[in-house]
Amino acid sequence: MSEITAERVSTPATKLDVEAVRSDFPLLHQEVYGKPLVYLDNAATTQKPRQVIETVDDYYRHYNSNIHRGVHNLSEKATAAYEEAREKVRRFINATDLKEIIFVRGATEGINLVAHSYGVSSLKTGDEIIISEMEHHSNIVPWQILCEQTGAILKVIPINDAGELDMAAYEQLLGPRTRLVSIVHISNALGTINPVKQIVEMAHAHNAIVLVDGAQATAHTAIDVQALDCDFYVFSAHKAFGPTGTGVLYGKAELLDAMPPYQSGGDMIKMVTFKKTLFNELPYKFEAGTPHIAGVIGMGAAIDYISGLGLDNIAAYEHELLGYATSAVQEVKGLRLVGTAHHKTSILSFILGSIHAHDIGTILDHEGIAVRAGHHCAMPVMERFSIPATARASFAIYNTREEVNTLVRALDKCREIFA
Ligand code: ALA
Repeated sequence: MSEITAERVSTPATKLDVEAVRSDFPLLHQEVYGKPLVYLDNAATTQKPRQVIETVDDYYRHYNSNIHRGVHNLSEKATAAYEEAREKVRRFINATDLKEIIFVRGATEGINLVAHSYGVSSLKTGDEIIISEMEHHSNIVPWQILCEQTGAILKVIPINDAGELDMAAYEQLLGPRTRLVSIVHISNALGTINPVKQIVEMAHAHNAIVLVDGAQATAHTAIDVQALDCDFYVFSAHKAFGPTGTGVLYGKAELLDAMPPYQSGGDMIKMVTFKKTLFNELPYKFEAGTPHIAGVIGMGAAIDYISGLGLDNIAAYEHELLGYATSAVQEVKGLRLVGTAHHKTSILSFILGSIHAHDIGTILDHEGIAVRAGHHCAMPVMERFSIPATARASFAIYNTREEVNTLVRALDKCREIFA
C-alpha cells in the first residue's frame, strides 16, 4: 500500500475555498457503488455549478424564445441575454470586437468551420499546413480532409519523450509554402501546455496564420487572444463548467470578413431573392439557423463563475494539486506517467504495469472514481509512446488532495487484483 503521509492530507494554501466551490456543484455530492463519487474525468467534460444550471433553467422557465427575430418581449429578453453572453466571451478572451466572437457547437465545429471556409477558399495544391503529433483527432481529421480537397500537404511537429513539442523541428517545418499552423494549447492526452505565443510569432514570421485549439485551456488558464496574437482560437463551453453543444470560434475580423459562410440558412442573410443572396455581417454570417440559445446563455453564466473565482487563483490551486497528485501516483509501484512536460496542467495520463487501461477504469469506477481510459481521441499520441491506451485522471477546481489519496489507494487495489 502506498503510504499517505500527513503532508499529503492537508489542504494547500491558496485563495480558493475548495469546499465552497464544491458546494456549488450538486452532482459531486453522490455515491457510486456505495462510495463517494470522485470525479476525475474533467478533460472529457466538467460538472456544472448551480449558477449555470439555474441560468439555463431560468431561460426555459421564464423567457424561452427565439432570438434576433421576434418583436415581442420574450424574444427581446432572449436576444439581450444571448448577446450579453457574446460580450462576456469577448472580455473573457480579450478580443477587440464582438464581431470576432462566433458561437459554434464546440471546438470541433470551430476547427471544421475554419477548414471548410478559410481552408477551401484560400489553400491550393502544394500549400502546407502544420499540426503536431499531440493533436486531438478534431485537430487532425479536418486538415486531412482539407488536404484531400485542395492538394495541400499536412506536416507534423514531433514531440519528445516528455510530451513536449520539438520546437527546432517546428522551425525546420516552417517555410515559404506554410499557410496555416493549427496547434493545441493544452494537450488532452498529456497535459502539456504549449508555448502558443512563440508558435504564433514563428508562424507569422513566415506569413502563416495560426489556429489555437483551446478546448482544454479555458477552465485552467487565462486566455488573451490579443497577447497571443493568434488568428483563430476555439473552445467548448462544456469543458469549462458550461453546457454541452456550445462553444466559440474567435477569429480576427479581417480574416472572418473575407471568409465565405460555412453553413447557410436563416439569420446569416441580409436579403434573399431567387437571383442573389446578401450575407449578414459578422458575427451573424457564421451563425445559420436557430442556435443553442440556452447553452450560450449558460456559457455566459459559466464565464461569470470562472471570473468570480479568478483564473489566477484557479491556476495556482490546480498547479499545486497536480504537483501533489504527480508525486502521489508515482509511489504506486509499476505506474508510469505518459506526459511529463515541464509546463503542464491538470492531467495525469498513465499506464500501470501490464494492466489494460480499460481494466483500470473499471476497477476505479467500482471505487467511485471516474477516469477516462483509452486513446483519448489522440491515437497518434498513443503510437508515439508505443502504447494502446492510458488511464487518465483529469482535475478541476473542485478536486482535492483527499480525492487524490482515494485514487492512489484504488490504484494499489488494481495492482493487488492483477498481481
Ligand atoms: N476530448 C475529450 C477528452 O479528452 C472528450 O476526453
